[in-house]
Amino acid sequence: MDGNSGVIMSIGRILLLFVLIGSWQLAMADPQCPQPRFTGAAPEDFLKMENPVPLNRAVLREAKKIYLGKAEGQGCAICHGSKGDGRGPLADSFDPPPRNFTCARTINDIADGQLFWIVRYGSPDTSMPGHPQLRDTQIWQLVHYLRHLAR
Ligand code: HEC
Repeated sequence: MDGNSGVIMSIGRILLLFVLIGSWQLAMADPQCPQPRFTGAAPEDFLKMENPVPLNRAVLREAKKIYLGKAEGQGCAICHGSKGDGRGPLADSFDPPPRNFTCARTINDIADGQLFWIVRYGSPDTSMPGHPQLRDTQIWQLVHYLRHLAR
C-alpha cells in the first residue's frame, strides 16, 4: 500500500463515521409516523364512548398541566415527550415505544374511548401505566389534548 491509498482509506473511514453518526441522529430525531400499534383494543362499551367534555382553551390548559406533570403525578411528557412526539427522556428504555401523539395518521384513527381506556387502565405488558388517580373528567381533558397535539 503506498502513502496515498493509506490517506484515502483514512478519509473514507472518517466519512463513513460521519454517515453513521448522521443516520443515528436522524433516527433519534425523527419520530415514527405512522407508528405501528400493537395495543390491545378497549372493550366495546368503551369504544362506543364519545368525549363528554366540551373542547375549549381552558380544557386544553388544564390537560397540558397534567400532561407535563405540573398538576398530579408524574404526567405523560416524561415518556411521551413535552411536544407529544413519543421522545420523552425515558422513551428509549421502552419496547414498545411510547405513542407519538404528533402523528395525526396514527392518532386520528384511534377512538376516544380507546384513548380513555388506555390512560385509565394502562396497556398490559408495556410500560404504559394506568392512572387510577385521575378523575374521568381529567382523562377526557387529556384525550382532547392528545388530539390537539396531532394537528
Ligand atoms: C412510564 C412511561 C409512560 C408514561 C408516564 C405514560 N405513558 Fe402512555 N404510553 C407509554 C408506552 C410505552 C406506550 C405504548 C404502549 C403500547 O404500545 O401498547 C404508551 C401508549 C399510550 C397511548 C396509546 C393508546 C393506543 O391505543 O394506542 C396513550 C393514549 C397514552 N399512552 C397516553 C398517556 C397519557 C395521557 C399519559 C399521562 C397521563 C401517559 N400515556 C403516560 C408510556 C408511558
